[in-house]
Amino acid sequence: MSTESNRARSKARHVAIIMDGNGRWAKRKHLPRAMGHQRGVEAVRKLVRAVEPMGLDCLTLYAFSSENWKRPEEEVDDLMNLLRKFIKSDLPEFVANDVRLKIIGDYKALAPDIVAQLEDALEKTSQGSRILAVALNYGSQDEIVRAARHAADEGEVTADSIERHLDTAGLPPLDLLIRTSGEVRLSNFLLWQCAYAEMVFVDTLWPDFTPEHLQQALDDFASRERRYGGR
Ligand code: FPP
Repeated sequence: MSTESNRARSKARHVAIIMDGNGRWAKRKHLPRAMGHQRGVEAVRKLVRAVEPMGLDCLTLYAFSSENWKRPEEEVDDLMNLLRKFIKSDLPEFVANDVRLKIIGDYKALAPDIVAQLEDALEKTSQGSRILAVALNYGSQDEIVRAARHAADEGEVTADSIERHLDTAGLPPLDLLIRTSGEVRLSNFLLWQCAYAEMVFVDTLWPDFTPEHLQQALDDFASRERRYGGR
């Protein structure tokens, strides 16, 4: 594939974000950690509203990892309560704005009322055309193991058959991964899907991340030449 055609294909369709830095944001402002997470949800809300004008088909957000259960109980409760509130308050907007919710990760292990709320939201948004994928109780290694087991149950284990059983099956290929807060690692997020994704790491703490920051990352992405292993 020529450089020109790589450039021509460089509009991102699927962006995933590791939303990091809520705690540090709160600490810098001498506020409780919960406040950092609360402001983190506001950043999520603004970004979801920006997805359509930016022409993205899919935004995937790492909201709660399977390792996040190790945090103090009070913080886990705060995060779960924010999730309850977020779905309740923003579901009508998703429906009105053609957003289709998708959950990746083992969300059925969350509290039964949250599972019910999520399943209601999945159903009510099922006709939407732009996808908001939220990773909940998600761990990429676990996702790959589950997918490989399903593939083996069905027959041959190949990259294609594994991919068909990943939680992200049906989503567009991942184009760009962004991580906020200056950390440069994947933290068990979308390891398979990152195989050919571009990556942008920014110092901004998540509550300060705005649609303008996303646009900058998209501009950066558009200027890159993607090689997919070729020359
Ligand atoms: C990382 O900040 C962020 C998280 C562990 C969770 C991300 C959650 C949100 C943005 C809010 C909830 C989202 C939804 C969709 C309801 P950190 O606490 O690890 O920050 P630190 O590294 O500075 O301590």
